[in-house]
Amino acid sequence: MKIAGRVQDIEVSGIRTLFESAGPGSINLGLGQPDFDTPDHIRDAAIQAIRDGKTGYTNNTGIIELRTAICEKLKKENNLTYTPDQVIVTAGASEALHLVMQSLVETGDRVLFADPGFVSYAALASLAGGRPEGVPLDATLHLDVEKAKEIMGGARLFVINSPANPTGAVEGAETVRDLVEYAMDAGVTIVSDEVYEHFVYEREHVSAAAFGDDVITVNAVSKTYAMTGWRLGYLAAPEEYITPCVKVHQYCQACATSISQYAALAAYKGDQSPVAAMHHEYKARRDLIYHGFESMGIRFPIPEGAFYAFVPMDQGLISRVLSKGVVIVPGSAFGKNSPNFARLSYAAPRSTLDEALARIRSAL
Ligand SMILES: Cc1ncc(COP(=O)(O)O)c(C=O)c1O
Repeated sequence: MKIAGRVQDIEVSGIRTLFESAGPGSINLGLGQPDFDTPDHIRDAAIQAIRDGKTGYTNNTGIIELRTAICEKLKKENNLTYTPDQVIVTAGASEALHLVMQSLVETGDRVLFADPGFVSYAALASLAGGRPEGVPLDATLHLDVEKAKEIMGGARLFVINSPANPTGAVEGAETVRDLVEYAMDAGVTIVSDEVYEHFVYEREHVSAAAFGDDVITVNAVSKTYAMTGWRLGYLAAPEEYITPCVKVHQYCQACATSISQYAALAAYKGDQSPVAAMHHEYKARRDLIYHGFESMGIRFPIPEGAFYAFVPMDQGLISRVLSKGVVIVPGSAFGKNSPNFARLSYAAPRSTLDEALARIRSAL
């Protein structure tokens, strides 16, 4: 019963383990999952697709209507020009990231991303045979551009994730432009993970692909439309990358779920007001959490986007908060640079957040 070394070398996701270990009566602020239901018109479109018998394999890269709708979305919302041939519909942003790593990373290639950063980047880079490398953040929890430039030379990929998990930081246009232009000169491909683009409360979201050609845009309906369980995302890339990524996709996934593709089509083409309503609610919760900690004397840079607060907490406080039944994720889950932080997801009702804050106050 031998297990391949490349799998032994990566860890089981600590966040899942925490989530599964939460006892009764505990408040789970651990998982990056919207607490809203998928909007009705999207669910109706999926039910209709089932009734219409749209239940077989689709084109490997996704139904043309959806790839066209994604291109229209990228033009309208991000001012990016892509053709449907440059889009692959995937099982969530996760699969899109996997395809990119498998297709572009050679054994020993360096893959850079923020540390603290989203847990999958390091694991996916390792699975592809690459060498994951964290880029430090500055005191405001944003990418340290100068440090990033210092280590960029010779890397294969640089992943930009704005708005960011776990910090909620939104990178400004200048930072994104600076990093992309530097990467283009250095021959480093940029992967831009934009899954939280619609949840920005300060600043504006900017897409990295606006500033360079060798950029792969990764996104999903998961967070924007509260559709994490539908497993539907995409990558949009220069044509040269499509066939290699399709090869990997063909053999691991064949195609994204047909029903989810019709649901995503309704999401992109339909009423966008549910997204605005979620944005409004997340912002109110962000303020609640931020001011709640402020009133306890715990200060940190205000999270500008996503639905996370990355809060300074030492190990003792993290343990006491966990023992009060509030599930939060220790900063050590997100890399080496933030042991004395914890991530809280505010994708939970305000009354739940109030109760969590009260328990944290008593832990303090
Ligand atoms: C930054 C980031 N990228 C990608 C993903 C994965 O998204 P999906 O559920 O679409 O695979 C997540 C999920 O938490 C995330 O936080």
